Amino acid sequence: MFLPILFIFSVVLISSSPPHTAALDFCVANLTLPTGPAGYPCKKAANVTADDFAFSGLAMAGNTSNLIKAAVTPAFVAQFPGLNGLGFSMARADLAPGGVIPMHTHPSAHEMLLVVQGRISAGLISSSDNKVYLKTLKKGDIMVFPKGILHFQINAGGIPAIAFVSFSDPDPGLQILDFALFANNLPSKLIEKVTFLDDAQVKKLKAVLGGTG
Ligand SMILES: *[C@@H]1O[C@H](CO)[C@@H](O)[C@H](O)[C@H]1NC(C)=O
Ligand SMILES: *[C@@H]1O[C@H](CO)[C@@H](O)[C@H](O)[C@H]1NC(C)=O
Ligand SMILES: *[C@@H]1O[C@H](CO)[C@@H](O)[C@H](O)[C@H]1NC(C)=O
Repeated sequence: MFLPILFIFSVVLISSSPPHTAALDFCVANLTLPTGPAGYPCKKAANVTADDFAFSGLAMAGNTSNLIKAAVTPAFVAQFPGLNGLGFSMARADLAPGGVIPMHTHPSAHEMLLVVQGRISAGLISSSDNKVYLKTLKKGDIMVFPKGILHFQINAGGIPAIAFVSFSDPDPGLQILDFALFANNLPSKLIEKVTFLDDAQVKKLKAVLGGTG
């Protein structure tokens, strides 16, 4: 009785001891190599500099002279290689009056949004029962959008709105619903079948978003 217990105990001890590998302080992305599920391969340590751990690109407003009157400036691993392997990233969202970040999802990351100027109406739609959760946020308010859930943001004030957004992945991914439907070569007849929209509406949206077919 005693020996088997001792044996199990020592097996547990052995299997829970840490592996004999040197701790890696960081793995700054080598952006010239392809990325995979675990991120980018590491740059050689000799080539890592302080600039790999800092990013100045969020100071300036994005250009909102576009269809959606909004711009998202990413600080994801592709722009900020020091994020590789760290499990988070950021972005800046600028929404001119009337601006909208259309219905979209991030396949790889939860999102947290902090309003620093203006007002933003934001909503998310559950996948289980398509319930809508809507909030109008003012300066200082934060809101979360769980991974993979459809959501959107709209400028709800008369002045430019600014938000900083954090993600739970260095490469959160982005799929915009209308672009997936109307900005590619998916044939109009098929879109009409799978969305129940009429031909005129589909053709109009393809023209606006640059789709063909
Ligand atoms: C990045 O990877 C390429 C291809 O393996 C290699 O030639 C290059 O030296 C690497 N760069 C750094 C900074 O490690
Ligand atoms: C990496 O560092 C080595 C040695 O300091 C240098 O010769 C090489 O050009 C650097 N490579 C890159 C891609 O910066
Ligand atoms: C903003 O984008 C528009 C449309 O692409 C362009 O015409 C304009 O020059 C850009 N403005 C700045 C300041 O880059």
